[in-house]
Amino acid sequence: MSNNKLEGKVAIITGGASGIGKATACVFADHGARMVVIADIQDELGEQVAAIIGSQKCRYIHCDVTDEEQVKAMVEWTVQNYGQLDIMFSNAGIIRSKNRNSNSVSDQNVLDLDLAAFDHLFAVNVRGMAACVKHAGRAMVERRVRGSIVCTASVAASCGGDTDTDYFMSKHAVVGLVRSASHQLGAHGIRVNSVSPFVVAMTSLTHHLTGTEAEEARKVYDPETKLKGVVVKAKHVADAVLFLASQDSEAVTGHDMVVDGGFLLK
Ligand SMILES: NC(=O)c1ccc[n+]([C@@H]2O[C@H](COP(=O)([O-])OP(=O)(O)OC[C@H]3O[C@@H](n4cnc5c(N)ncnc54)[C@H](O)[C@@H]3O)[C@@H](O)[C@H]2O)c1
Repeated sequence: MSNNKLEGKVAIITGGASGIGKATACVFADHGARMVVIADIQDELGEQVAAIIGSQKCRYIHCDVTDEEQVKAMVEWTVQNYGQLDIMFSNAGIIRSKNRNSNSVSDQNVLDLDLAAFDHLFAVNVRGMAACVKHAGRAMVERRVRGSIVCTASVAASCGGDTDTDYFMSKHAVVGLVRSASHQLGAHGIRVNSVSPFVVAMTSLTHHLTGTEAEEARKVYDPETKLKGVVVKAKHVADAVLFLASQDSEAVTGHDMVVDGGFLLK
């Protein structure tokens, strides 16, 4: 198997300071990407990841995806400095949002839905995702780059849950974005797909969700997957993103690739 699936490519990864985004940045760099730009709001962590990968192949940039101007500036900065944009991995996301007034965190059961928290979660998971697809798509169209855009959805895009109504809704919306954008950008040779992980051991997002350490999370989630002996890890998701970002999937667009150890199997 080739180890250089992304040779010469320029990629942006939002939410790249931690978890799935960080694992994907490492995989992209290992596969010969010319530059991986990590965009996040956790500056210290982001700088650390860029330093681990090496400044020749990876740069950190502060970008809050809820602010369209910051997304636009981040894409422009990348194109100005590295000549083009081949891959956008729009991955930044949150599972629960604090109510800024009360500082409380609701479990977002529909009867207790905190709509201020709902709005903030949607600003990151849906509006932010749309802004990244919009500005990456524009940069690719302008330079006639037959690029690849990958968004992080979730198994939560294919089912409902007892809590976190806004999160489940937001991930359904990501799949809707991918389906529409793939229709529209196909005319320019640009592919748009999503990756849908099951609970990944371990990212800061799952720490927040479970409140347990890695081994505890394995105990909690392992029985729920149908593929014996498999615990979904960030690297599994990163490998799926590599496939969707590379020419190996040149005929794949509008697809939601589930990485869930069989969790969704009926
Ligand atoms: N961990 C899981 O089990 C799991 C399962 C399914 C889907 N996902 C999705 O995977 C994606 C990555 O999550 P993760 O598990 O790696 O969690 P994570 O918390 O480790 O990483 C998410 C990153 O997004 C960043 N981020 C948050 N808000 C941002 C903003 N406004 N602008 C820019 N960056 C921002 C965070 O700082 C963080 O570095 C998310 O979209 C999440 O919904 C995660």
